[in-house]
Amino acid sequence: MEAARWLAAAAVVAAVWVAAKSEPQINLLNRGCSQYNATNSKNFFENRNATFAAMAAQLSTGGGRRFATAQQARSSDPVYGMAQCRNYLSDDDCFACYTAAVAEIRSCSAANGARVIYDGCFLRYESNNFYSETTQIGNEHICNNITVPQEATFREKGLILIQNLVKATPRINGYFAATKMIVESGSNSTIYGIAQCVETISQDGCRDCLVVAIENIESCLPNTDGKTIDAGCFLRYSNHQFFPENSTMDITPYLGEGNSWRKKAIIGGVVGGVCLMLILSAFFLWYKFSRKAKPTSKRDNILGATELQGPNIYSYKDLKVATNNFSEENKLGEGGFGDVFKATLKNGTIVAVKRLDISYSRAKIDFESEVRLVSNVHHRNLVRLLGCCSKGSQLLLVYEYMANGSLDRFLYGDRRGELTWKQRSDILLGTARGLAYLHEQYHVCIIHRDIKPSNILLDDDFHAKIADFGLARLLPENQSHVSTKFAGTLGYTAPEYAIHGHLSEKVDTYSFGVVILEIISGRRSSDRNSEIETEYLLDEAWKLYENGVHQQLVDETLNKTEYAAEDVKKMVEIALICTQSPPSSRPTMSEILVTLLSARGSDAIQVNPRLRPPSTNASRFISEAASSNNSAPLPNSTSITLLSGR
Ligand SMILES: *[C@@H]1O[C@H](CO)[C@@H](O)[C@H](O)[C@H]1NC(C)=O
Ligand SMILES: *[C@@H]1O[C@H](CO)[C@@H](O)[C@H](O)[C@H]1NC(C)=O
Ligand SMILES: *[C@@H]1O[C@H](CO)[C@@H](O)[C@H](O)[C@H]1NC(C)=O
Ligand SMILES: *[C@@H]1O[C@H](CO)[C@@H](O)[C@H](O)[C@H]1NC(C)=O
Repeated sequence: MEAARWLAAAAVVAAVWVAAKSEPQINLLNRGCSQYNATNSKNFFENRNATFAAMAAQLSTGGGRRFATAQQARSSDPVYGMAQCRNYLSDDDCFACYTAAVAEIRSCSAANGARVIYDGCFLRYESNNFYSETTQIGNEHICNNITVPQEATFREKGLILIQNLVKATPRINGYFAATKMIVESGSNSTIYGIAQCVETISQDGCRDCLVVAIENIESCLPNTDGKTIDAGCFLRYSNHQFFPENSTMDITPYLGEGNSWRKKAIIGGVVGGVCLMLILSAFFLWYKFSRKAKPTSKRDNILGATELQGPNIYSYKDLKVATNNFSEENKLGEGGFGDVFKATLKNGTIVAVKRLDISYSRAKIDFESEVRLVSNVHHRNLVRLLGCCSKGSQLLLVYEYMANGSLDRFLYGDRRGELTWKQRSDILLGTARGLAYLHEQYHVCIIHRDIKPSNILLDDDFHAKIADFGLARLLPENQSHVSTKFAGTLGYTAPEYAIHGHLSEKVDTYSFGVVILEIISGRRSSDRNSEIETEYLLDEAWKLYENGVHQQLVDETLNKTEYAAEDVKKMVEIALICTQSPPSSRPTMSEILVTLLSARGSDAIQVNPRLRPPSTNASRFISEAASSNNSAPLPNSTSITLLSGR
């Protein structure tokens, strides 16, 4: 009796000791140093020391502070710093984690920007004010590679847990949530998760960042541990309890619907969202640099998850055999960049081979790095580039094969009328996901420039996969806009790009808007031939919407019981917002994704008639004028080949 009580007491002591054990969680997730050094290192080191000291003072005052910013902007070489601990760390652990991060980041010597991210905290400094950054490059996920025994339920519960965290965290004061969920009742398996945003971003910024994070971390399930890192947020789940029991929160009060934020997301998108291409490239270089600097250390294995690998090299002879000597029967189509052939490799795998004609050698050097870049893009809504092959002036790209071909066949081609409303909505969602990834989540921003149904391929289950991304980057600068290339696909091309050559990721947003209308209506954006199609689709959609009769747009092959009127309204409104001018008034693809994913209803979307784009007729006229100077023949349904005129 006495002994039992003693044992029980000892167990309690042991449990308390375990919970209170010091654990600053300095497992390194990411470290990067800018490739640029400060100009005056004396000023810089003084500024940086002062910044670090000011943040240390904030984090060591106790009182549960887990976030600090400080800056020294006097003289040349300003330093802006930010540090954050996960809220579940004790005061001492937080300070220990911060101290370790300071020591680690000093190894970047005089680099004018750097970051260190641990499980328990992160530290970052830059030469400019970055406090409002939400998603940036370097958002990546780190999965361990052990899967749990009960995979399906773990995955399902994990997704719910993550979605709850993403919903709740932006609504919680201090932007931190920690929660857990039983995986299977009766078993003692539990899944734990936390989400956190930096305190200097808005509620919408926090949400945007976490929506991107969810996309990243999803692919870690059902592995036992997954983490995502980004400029404005951190998300982690694990089957192991990595935070103390008493940090677990009840987040159910924050899970209710409430959609006022969607409106803000759309309006916010109007202001923000230029695809900071330069910044992205700078970050890319930074990553390359930081990887090169220490190729063998453990941290580089983590960065190495995104290390660029070379594409597979195929032999020309094999591809020639596989495509039956590039025969007409094997031809799948004539894409914007060259002909595409169906090929059956020796091992029986069916692939698609695109034949480009590269007839100038300077381009080839760029080409190789572009191919490497594109072959590293892995996303379920993007057609995988498997490898390439070059022979003389010919370049062959080998892609995964999509059995159902392209979306245009199903809208107004030989398989018209086969797609249900649900399939159409899923195709839109998949396309939005793929584009959001290219624009905002891959480590360089890739603008597609030629989004249209013939570039959206469908797999066996009618999942959308975008084809031909990255190839537009191969166009020589001076050929990238006003050219015959766009004469055929003008209906999809944003006016500022067609006319002035102004390129931003909003060019893709515009095309996506037109694609939405084609998917709803089963009509070609530029077709005016039939008696119903008296106007270009986009002009007509704006007019019908303004008159409140947008339901007339819906494809008559669809059964009226398949869709709800409010879904049609929401889709049409998203389409119109996507095509607004100026480009800054169009939402980013991640904002569109959020809107598509959110509960039905369109009350939160505000279409502004004053932002209606110039009439398609007008821009078509301009483009035809531009191309007639060019004297090249006008292709009618596909864009002209990559290197036309060479
Ligand atoms: C959790 O428990 C630890 C150790 O008992 C204690 O120091 C800490 O203040 C507690 N945290 C909360 C949020 O109650
Ligand atoms: C930056 O400074 C480091 C260390 O002082 C030096 O090794 C590196 O070459 C410098 N980088 C540049 C781009 O000047
Ligand atoms: C900055 O702090 C480091 C570490 O404490 C010290 O070695 C260095 O001399 C300091 N530099 C300046 C310019 O104060
Ligand atoms: C993943 O698992 C394999 C075999 O189980 C192991 O050899 C490998 O080191 C693991 N990789 C990582 C990154 O842990």
